[in-house]
Amino acid sequence: MEKIQIAVLGLGTVGSGVKNILQEKKELLKERIFQKTGLEREIEIKKILIRDINKVYDVDKELLTEDFEDILNDDDIKIVVELIGGNQPATDYMIKAMKANKNVITANKLVIAKSNGLLEKVAKENDVRFMYEASVAGTVPVIKVINDSLVGNSISKISGIVNGTTNYILSKMTNENKSFEEALKSAQDLGFAESDPSSDIDGDDSLYKIAILSKLAFSTEIDLEKISKQGIRHITKTDIENAKNSNKRIKFLAQAEKKEGKVVISVSPVEIDSKHPLANVEGAMNAVCISCDNAGEIMLQGAGAGSRPTASAVVSDIFSVASKL
Ligand SMILES: NC(=O)c1ccc[n+]([C@@H]2O[C@H](COP(=O)([O-])OP(=O)(O)OC[C@H]3O[C@@H](n4cnc5c(N)ncnc54)[C@H](OP(=O)(O)O)[C@@H]3O)[C@@H](O)[C@H]2O)c1
Repeated sequence: MEKIQIAVLGLGTVGSGVKNILQEKKELLKERIFQKTGLEREIEIKKILIRDINKVYDVDKELLTEDFEDILNDDDIKIVVELIGGNQPATDYMIKAMKANKNVITANKLVIAKSNGLLEKVAKENDVRFMYEASVAGTVPVIKVINDSLVGNSISKISGIVNGTTNYILSKMTNENKSFEEALKSAQDLGFAESDPSSDIDGDDSLYKIAILSKLAFSTEIDLEKISKQGIRHITKTDIENAKNSNKRIKFLAQAEKKEGKVVISVSPVEIDSKHPLANVEGAMNAVCISCDNAGEIMLQGAGAGSRPTASAVVSDIFSVASKL
């Protein structure tokens, strides 16, 4: 049995989800790799990077390290899964891993959106794979659909609810007549919103995600500064009521459309018809509609965040790389 050894950077919400799924689905993944490749292979976590070795983790201590060099210098590790988040040291770690001939998988939308293609470039130069399905819409396999399933299409428009926190807030305001402040408090109490929710409610999180999708769908570099962005702080009960009275719903949409050769991207609250498929995506769910010439319009929906849903997308990337090594 060939072991595909991987390292996970960060054992937080998503990192522990990945560890758990890889443990629980070890046999299933082995079978699926065999079905796909005819090869007897299993995926094994060899090292996990943590920040504080004295913290208690539900994992064999032998696997833990505080030193990234332990991972970098281990030639048996073929895949590095970055789940520490933030810009640095995540970016450095990913670049160093690729330069050491390791494939890299991440869920880090911030780094992908802001790095202007640097990580993809380093991956190509070093002939390794760089995958990031979990960075947009959590468990929803939208990147695979754009890259693989719709490869015989020209995409004209992507329109999505890619932030669960804001969708939860707007759903609560619409369905329970809550004010923005009440709905935000409820999201925070339930763990759907961070104590500092600005990246979600002011639109940065959605902006990173639509920038990633646009780049893939329209094969063009995206300048984040040029994307028109408006958050949802200003939405009042009256706005919600007025929309309802005209059979509309206010949804926080990240949109990208190719018009006359130019890609126009925006992130803003939009009034949409109450029968539109996106109007009925409720709570913390995410959904993405893709319009294209041959397939027509498709919509993908699912959990946009959370330990296991996000980890499920990361594991899909790990499987994909492990099957092709
Ligand atoms: N959570 C979600 O639902 C979700 C959904 C989609 C994408 N993502 C993305 O997934 C990534 C991880 O998110 P998360 O929610 O799992 O975050 P998290 O719960 O905060 O976990 C991050 C972990 O990384 C560790 N860490 C941070 N810096 C480190 C360093 N320099 N060296 C070693 N360990 C370090 C932290 O350690 P300490 O515990 O010591 O601080 C923490 O355990 C982010 O890029 C996020 O945007 C998350």
